[in-house]
Amino acid sequence: MQNRIKAPIARVVDLVKRYYLESVTVSALSGVSLEFAEGDFIALMGPSGSGKSTLLNLLGCLDRPTSGEYYLGHDNVAYMEDDDLSDVRSRYIGFIFQSYNLLAQYTVVENIEVPLLYQGARLNAKTRERCISLAEMVGLGNRLDHRPMQLSGGQQQRVAIARALVNDPHVILADEPTGNLDSKTSDEIMMLLTELNKAGKTIIMVTHENDIASWARRVVRMRDGRVESDERNKPVPLAPPTGDVADVLPQVLAADGMLDQTDIADAESDR
Ligand SMILES: Nc1ncnc2c1ncn2[C@@H]1O[C@H](COP(=O)(O)OP(=O)(O)OP(=O)(O)O)[C@@H](O)[C@H]1O
Ligand SMILES: [Mg+2]
Repeated sequence: MQNRIKAPIARVVDLVKRYYLESVTVSALSGVSLEFAEGDFIALMGPSGSGKSTLLNLLGCLDRPTSGEYYLGHDNVAYMEDDDLSDVRSRYIGFIFQSYNLLAQYTVVENIEVPLLYQGARLNAKTRERCISLAEMVGLGNRLDHRPMQLSGGQQQRVAIARALVNDPHVILADEPTGNLDSKTSDEIMMLLTELNKAGKTIIMVTHENDIASWARRVVRMRDGRVESDERNKPVPLAPPTGDVADVLPQVLAADGMLDQTDIADAESDR
């Protein structure tokens, strides 16, 4: 059938997550139903404690819900066993965290390689080449052998983004990716995420800041473990480009990583 609406890439139905502590039960999510379209860019907002990270962790298969359903593609992944969950995670999902979570003893390229190891892949000249091209794509081609300590916060977050892309994931989950960065560096990271979204990646990002959320196509606000509002700023592209980002996005940021304000203004007027 033509003009058929595409199935969402991810869908949660009446998702509930409770934490049972010694004497109290905390309801982190109290019945969340949301659909995420392929190629969308969603900002999850809401006060501290409203359940944003809990939802992101469930979407990332890092945890299981107390009740409800989670469909990733066609599969209900809500109650999979640990091994299956980690398999799904390494094939479908890329993570970016506020505190970068890089391994201090590894170089830039080695950090980007880590998810391949978890996936059980063998590292060879070809995987190395791929990691180098991802490092180049995020503007770190001249920092390949640096360790995290030798990089700025924005550069470390760019390594984390390259690492999130190494498995060519369907969905990128980002929990406050600019939370530790100044506003200019935050804009660089948001430009990078915007380019990845234009290249077809579905992005779900938690943020506290309206400025950061305004880069997204859709803003979902949570309160007390429920969806409070759901607004669309920009349409979802009808036919998101497919293909590996390492091929379609040769280099998003300048090699030294520093953009001037005109680049950022151009990108903002472009969105
Ligand atoms: N592992 C846990 N054990 C017990 N309670 C938890 C756990 N993780 C989260 N919670 C509780 O669940 C609720 C939602 O937490 P969550 O981390 O999802 O909030 P958040 O919206 O991400 O907040 P923030 O903006 O501060 O990061 C909070 O009340 C929190 O205390
Ligand atoms: Mg959180």
